Amino acid sequence: MTANTEVFDAQQEMSRREFLNYAWLASLGILTAQTAVVTYQFALPRIAPGDFGGVVPVGAAGALPGVGAQPMSFPRAKFWWIVDEIGARAIYTICTHLGCIYDWKPNENQFICPCHGSTFERDGTFVKGPAPRSLDRFVIRAYDPGGALVAETNEAGDPLPIPEGSTIEVDTGARIQGPSKD
Ligand code: FES
Repeated sequence: MTANTEVFDAQQEMSRREFLNYAWLASLGILTAQTAVVTYQFALPRIAPGDFGGVVPVGAAGALPGVGAQPMSFPRAKFWWIVDEIGARAIYTICTHLGCIYDWKPNENQFICPCHGSTFERDGTFVKGPAPRSLDRFVIRAYDPGGALVAETNEAGDPLPIPEGSTIEVDTGARIQGPSKD
């Protein structure tokens, strides 16, 4: 082997090693970039504002149906807004039996499930049928004009008296089971 051939082989070996180093660094860069993208996407909120599963701004209390008014449906957020003399409820639109969507029947003044006939009072209280409990409800929060929390549904899901002039939100990620019918 001549000196020239040895130099040529050494150069070839260098460039092969350099190529492998660059390829390894490129792979590492791509992997790091992919990890960063996945982490960023994971950190993004997955529930759009106003969608079921998150906190839903409902608006000024004064603009919502008041005591004795027909229940108001919020289909995208999956609840009914209902107010009586005691306070407001946000009732989940899904039947507590097997998960059908029940209907409001104004003539009967009741909610009735078309699947197996479970029936509930206007405030979500169980009346009859195979459902094991009253309708579930979500946490309501009321804020004063300065943004301070002034009222919030308790752990039992009791009707919430709504302070005048407040702004309302319903937390559809915070569901409280209706009381058992037994
Ligand atoms: Fe409503 Fe069965 S799913 S009564």
